[in-house]
Amino acid sequence: MMNKAETRLIKANGDAAETAAACLKAGGLVAFPTETVYGLGADAANGKAIARLYVAKGRPSFNPLIAHVPNLAAAQRLGAFDAAAEILAAAFWPGPLTLVVPKAPGCPVAALATAGLDTIAVRVPDSPVAQAILKAFGGAIVAPSANRSGHVSPTIAAHVAADLGGTVDLIVDGGATRVGLESTIVGCVGTPTLLRSGAVTREAIEQVLGQRLATPGTGPGAAPAAPGMLASHYAPKARLRRDAGDVRPGEALLAFGPQPPAGANRAVATLNLSAKGDLVEAAANLFAHLRALDRPGIAGIAVMPIPHEGLGVAINDRLARAAAPRDTT
Ligand code: TXA
Ligand code: MG
Repeated sequence: MMNKAETRLIKANGDAAETAAACLKAGGLVAFPTETVYGLGADAANGKAIARLYVAKGRPSFNPLIAHVPNLAAAQRLGAFDAAAEILAAAFWPGPLTLVVPKAPGCPVAALATAGLDTIAVRVPDSPVAQAILKAFGGAIVAPSANRSGHVSPTIAAHVAADLGGTVDLIVDGGATRVGLESTIVGCVGTPTLLRSGAVTREAIEQVLGQRLATPGTGPGAAPAAPGMLASHYAPKARLRRDAGDVRPGEALLAFGPQPPAGANRAVATLNLSAKGDLVEAAANLFAHLRALDRPGIAGIAVMPIPHEGLGVAINDRLARAAAPRDTT
């Protein structure tokens, strides 16, 4: 397969955006920071580049991608926005919210990127690096998180290099991402529906909409709401033990808050998501800390309880996936 590439790593300054845009135009794969996590970008209109992207990620091909655009006008060339979608775009864009809307007639995004669906996921990132690349490129960029499928999302360029070095063309290093958690995904096809919890809280969205968000079916046999929300999607190799009140022999500790749990001194390694118990700081640290603690030979990672409020909802969602039994995808 054509999945071998020499990976160039550049800093996000000078003419980095032009270099990235030229690489994308030539059908290349470019990893770049957004405010949420690093994305692996390809020209949304180039089916071949998108095929290479799936190969590089090792991603099941039924998993559709988010199209990134610089502003609402560009988004409306890709999809049809109803009243709720327009309200949400006005309130949260640019920013870490993805809207799933019906594909617009003549939408230039390759069918492979939307995995044959008649809807499309769109977002306008607020990261200056992402914005500069989008403007230099002048078209939509599809970008899943820049990790190998099944790994946690990358929040620094070194994570991307570790997962995808040698298989992508360019990595633009813009430092650590501000938010550290993926965007929230809301379906705006009929009743607005929370498809993936993320950087924008359900409460903030419901307040702007003036209505509750629907929750997709979760019963047995229910289709996954966002096809990428496979139970074990965010999986480190080590076993995760959530809501841990103690540390067992051989375990590493992922702490939260000022109070260490029983047996904390026997942890083989310890990192604290936020010593002051701040959920925003915890979200920003989550994936980097999971990667850092995920060492061969440890008995597992004990994770202290995280409150199920605000950003804690998305953090707990990612931890539940990371702790789930592994499936084969
Ligand atoms: O913060 C983010 O959203 C990051 C940055 C790079 O933008 N991107 C990201 O992409 O998390 P990815 O591919 O890892 O996750 C996208 C999710 C997947 O669960 C996918 O199934 C879902 O979006 N999705 C994409 N298109 C969809 C559609 N038409 N309907 C429902 N879900 C969709
Ligand atoms: Mg992902």
